[in-house]
Order: sequence, then structure tokens, then C-alpha cells
Amino acid sequence: MKATAKAHTNIALIKYWGKRDESLILPMNNSLSLTLDVFYTTTTVTFREELFQDEFLLNEQVIRGEQYNRVAAFLDFIRRETQATSLHAEVRSTNHVPTAAGFASSASGFAALAAATTRALDLSISDQELSRLTRLGSGSACRSIFGGFVEWHKGTEKDGSDSYAVQVQPAEDWDVRVAAVVLSETTKKISSREGMKRTVDTSVFYPGWLKSIPRDLEQIKDGINQRDFEKVGSISEANCLRMHATTLGANPPFTYWHDATLRVMQGVQAMRERGISVFFTIDAGPNVKVLYLPEDETIVQEMLRQIPGVHDVIVSRSGQGVTYL
Ligand code: ADP
Ligand code: DP6
Ligand code: CO
Repeated sequence: MKATAKAHTNIALIKYWGKRDESLILPMNNSLSLTLDVFYTTTTVTFREELFQDEFLLNEQVIRGEQYNRVAAFLDFIRRETQATSLHAEVRSTNHVPTAAGFASSASGFAALAAATTRALDLSISDQELSRLTRLGSGSACRSIFGGFVEWHKGTEKDGSDSYAVQVQPAEDWDVRVAAVVLSETTKKISSREGMKRTVDTSVFYPGWLKSIPRDLEQIKDGINQRDFEKVGSISEANCLRMHATTLGANPPFTYWHDATLRVMQGVQAMRERGISVFFTIDAGPNVKVLYLPEDETIVQEMLRQIPGVHDVIVSRSGQGVTYL
């Protein structure tokens, strides 16, 4: 009744932005990500007779409130869906990634939680099934079950049975690097969940966003197949800008960007003008992720560190899917 799992975060190149069903976490559009090897979560789940309710410790701290409720609701869902136990669980998790700061802690966090929970209950399920269950914790987490390039199929069924992620290309097949440019590690004011809901409900730009997705997806998958870095990078950057544009059209309008976010974006464009092949993408937060190839690692790191407001640059390779410890 006890298991430990490790899961990495992922960075979306084609963003998941908007739900068609909020309780089942069904997305409006397919998304595509790269799993990262530097940022991860390890979670141990222990089901115990003597517990009257679930317990959640994150980074050795007892968690209450909204973060606790999300974990307890996820465990309730697993208990209900699998009928495997009625016992409560102790969840101990460590984030090797800043929490709720736009580094996708919800992705590694819920992927590790889902994997440890199902293993503790001795359920023999496929990775596809695990991805579908993980989706109920946090949408982006369903992609972190797999390594490398991963696509989340939005599915068409009302019950979400065909909404899960699949691997597009394993991590070892193409060495694309990502530099996480740390500007702020503080908690964002508007969570991803809240931000995408406001956008779907009110943004005049949202229909345009949705319309642009099929072409982006088709082209980026061609780019991945052909190892065409320029293609993959430029589509990712354009997709990111279009997602962030939707927040400006919301009511009330908002943005996840800080002043330093824009400086990094301009720094990346300046590097490109000097002939270096680099592209940026940004999730729901101010921090920027920069895509580049191994031969440019030194120059890219050096140039990013010179930009005012940059606290740190953390480089990552493409990471593996969920593992059990
Ligand atoms: P992020 O950019 O970090 O993914 P989100 O707003 O999407 O930001 O999600 C952050 C939330 O994810 C946290 O407030 C918490 O509820 C949940 N979370 C983060 N890490 C974990 C973890 N290790 N275990 C369970 N839940 C987690
Ligand atoms: C901008 O998966 O964090 O990072 O499903 O409500 O938990 P919930 O949201 P979450 O949203 C991620 C949004 C994004 C884009 C992406 O990762 O695809
Ligand atoms: Co998240």
C-alpha cells in the first residue's frame, strides 16, 4: 500500500489553453510538449488504516487549503473510479521545481501523485490509462507520463475516455535543449486554471486562438519528424505569442509577463539576428524558456545571463517519462 514515483515537468510548445469541461479537465485543443529532465517531483503515497482523512506534505510542510483540496479531490476520484480501496492516504511530495510559479509544478506534481497512487494500490494499468487518470489532477500533467515530445489528444468522448497523451518521439532521438530563464520564483497571482477559464469565458481573441491550432500541430509534428529545429522553434514561439495575446483580450484583461519577460524575448530575437538559432516560449507565468541546440549552449547561456532582471539560467535536456523508485 506504499509507492514512490518520480515525474518531470514538461514545457508546452503548442499550448493547452482552455477547457471544454472543467470538472473532467477536457481541453478545447490538442497540445504538444517536451518533457524536461532538470525539473521534477518525487511523491510517496501510503494508504493507511489509521487515517481519517488524506494528508498532504509538500517539501516537508503540512499543506491545507486549496492545494490540499486538489490532492484530496484527486485521491477521491481514484478511489471512486478504481474501487480499489476506501482507505485514506499520506502523500509526501518534494518539488525540485518552484511551486505555482509558471514552471509547470502541477504537471510533475500530479503525474508523480497519479503514478505513486496507482502503484501503491497495485493497479496494473497501461501508461495510456495512467495518462487519462493523471489528467484529472492537472491537464498538463497527463503529458508528463511520457518522455520526449508528447501530444495530448483532446478526445471527443463526453466522459473523457479518449482524452490522454501519447509519445510523439522519445527523448533520446533528438537532443533539443531548453534554458529556463528565472526572473521570478514567486507564486503567480492568477493560476493557470483561473487564467484559462477567464480567457475562454471572455476573451474576444479566443476563437482566433482555437482556429490556429490544427495548422500549428500539423507543422510542428512535421518539424519534429524532420529534425527541423527552425521549424519547431518558430512554430513554438508563434504559438506562445498567440496564447498570451488571448489574455490581453480577456475581461478583465491580464498578462503573465513582467518587464524582464519582454527583455528576454527581445534578447532571443537579437541572438537570432546574429545568426544563432534560438526561440522562446512562455507558460502561465513571467519566466521564459529558450529552445536551442547543444552546439549553442555556451553562447545562449552567456547572453541570457547578461539581460537585466535574469536571476538564473537553468539548462535542461529532454527528459524521460514517469519512473518508480
Ligand atoms: P505551475 O506553473 O507551477 O504548474 P499551476 O497554477 O498550474 O502552476 O499549479 C500549481 C498548483 O499545482 C499548486 O498550487 C498545487 O495546487 C499543485 N501542485 C504543485 N506541486 C504539487 C505536488 N508536488 N503535488 C501535488 N500538487 C502540486
Ligand atoms: C500555459 O495544466 O497547469 O502551461 O489543467 O487547470 O491544472 P489545469 O492547468 P495546467 O495549465 C497549463 C497551461 C500552460 C500551457 C500548457 O502547459 O500546455
Ligand atoms: Co500548471
